[in-house]
Amino acid sequence: MRTTIRDIGLMKRRAKPIAMITAYDYTSARIVENAGVDIILVGDSLGQVVLGYDSTVPVTMEDMLHHIKAVVRGTNKVHIVGDLPFMSYQANRSDAIRNAGRLLKEGGAQSVKLEGGRHVAKTVQRIVQAGIPVMAHIGLTPQAVNQLGGYRIQGRTTKAAVELIEDAKAVEEAGAYSIVLEGVPSQLAQIVTERLSIPTIGIGAGVHCDGQVQVFHDMMGLYTDFTPKHARKYANLAADMSGAVADYIHDVRAQTFPSEDESFTLSAEVLAELTG
Ligand code: KIV
Ligand code: NA
Repeated sequence: MRTTIRDIGLMKRRAKPIAMITAYDYTSARIVENAGVDIILVGDSLGQVVLGYDSTVPVTMEDMLHHIKAVVRGTNKVHIVGDLPFMSYQANRSDAIRNAGRLLKEGGAQSVKLEGGRHVAKTVQRIVQAGIPVMAHIGLTPQAVNQLGGYRIQGRTTKAAVELIEDAKAVEEAGAYSIVLEGVPSQLAQIVTERLSIPTIGIGAGVHCDGQVQVFHDMMGLYTDFTPKHARKYANLAADMSGAVADYIHDVRAQTFPSEDESFTLSAEVLAELTG
């Protein structure tokens, strides 16, 4: 059985930091699972890093299902969270439950994630009551980029900080099993982490969260359009890959690829018959 929400809750109680990474396809999901990550998020960040949109707003349920299925096929132990895309849960609660259910039933995810605090608490409660675990996501919520007026750090004023704490409490009370804190000052993330009994998973929220999440393409240095301040590059794959492609092009043009070892040969007999 894959890692459960109970296992994830226990990690907070045992003060064992949770390592979560996004993945969007079979090959990268296998690599990430084999490296020992606790949770894979199939994030709607695939809108930018896989599909080339300029935000997560255009991402559809079909996009999410397509990528969740690939990640599920590439893994067997890790807990997989599927992101609910923009407008799959905001308009009404029966849509929300049905779409959350599709990510488990058709996609094969073990839980879903959605953005928002007090305003989505009732929705979180209904989804959880249907038997679908929910990871909440507050602070900088990218689906609301048009409302927030850009990707800005949240909770910097006393009023905004108090509201963010209320959002966190509301989704915990609604039954969320964990919560992503994105783009939040470290001290505020620490306060939220101390006041909640469910794990907080930070991205741009400092070191005091119960876990961390990063976008695969940011960590790997694969997405070069924009690198957020919170991202640490653990590899430089875009540079490595462009070097590899340049080497290949060079070898093709110099006719040094393929070599004999990389080619197939006719038997001498067949060759003799053909060329007479
Ligand atoms: O879509 C995503 O990758 C996310 C993480 C940044 C938390 O929601
Ligand atoms: Na997301």
